[in-house]
Amino acid sequence: MRFLITAGPTREPIDPVRYLSNRSSGKMGYALADAALARGHEVILVSGPVSIRAPEGVTLVPVETAREMYDAVAETIAGADVAIFCAAVADYRVAEVADEKIKKTDESLTLTLVRNPDILGSARNAFDFRGILVGFAAETEKLAEHALDKLRRKGCDLLAANDVSRTDIAFDRDENEVELFYKDGRREGLPLASKGQIAKEIIRRVEGLVE
Ligand code: CTP
Repeated sequence: MRFLITAGPTREPIDPVRYLSNRSSGKMGYALADAALARGHEVILVSGPVSIRAPEGVTLVPVETAREMYDAVAETIAGADVAIFCAAVADYRVAEVADEKIKKTDESLTLTLVRNPDILGSARNAFDFRGILVGFAAETEKLAEHALDKLRRKGCDLLAANDVSRTDIAFDRDENEVELFYKDGRREGLPLASKGQIAKEIIRRVEGLVE
């Protein structure tokens, strides 16, 4: 099958030398790409800036901003059987990027932010994607409630949620623990394990959804 996977953070420029971003390392998305490849699938990996190397054999589409990621997904999703949105996309970008480096002239500086497009939220409508759709959710509270709401709102078949208020898992860690929420109401916990192991489990379940 053909997998499209988004991974890593996005980087939203403020001026030529500064940007807004987040703590995503890309490890989970890259582990998913690895696991899908190992199962013999084709993988397109649309990735924000990360410091890890893409697994050999994937088609890497490097991007920086959320809008670039949106465009890359819009161009590639039609050929995919499965789309997994693991990227930590910045919800907002700076309204007006300064052409020159901003100088520290005043005591305070106000940046106006505007909403970025919701890439996962565009899959079913704007991109008309009919394949298996998998989302991720990083939550700090009311995990199940928020995860179920996201699953339905974004038209996912499966949503993997993790609790980012915990310091032992998620951002930049090698381990993760996720709760899986399925469209049909099933719910399943994947206990603490390496991101590689979690990725294998997720790919196996995704394959099960296709059969
Ligand atoms: N996502 C995306 N494009 C965005 C924002 C998020 O594709 N602009 C995807 C992420 O890759 C992830 C899922 O959406 O799979 C969850 O992201 P999140 O930001 O938690 O979802 P929101 O609905 O924006 O939730 P919140 O209200 O918590 O910001």
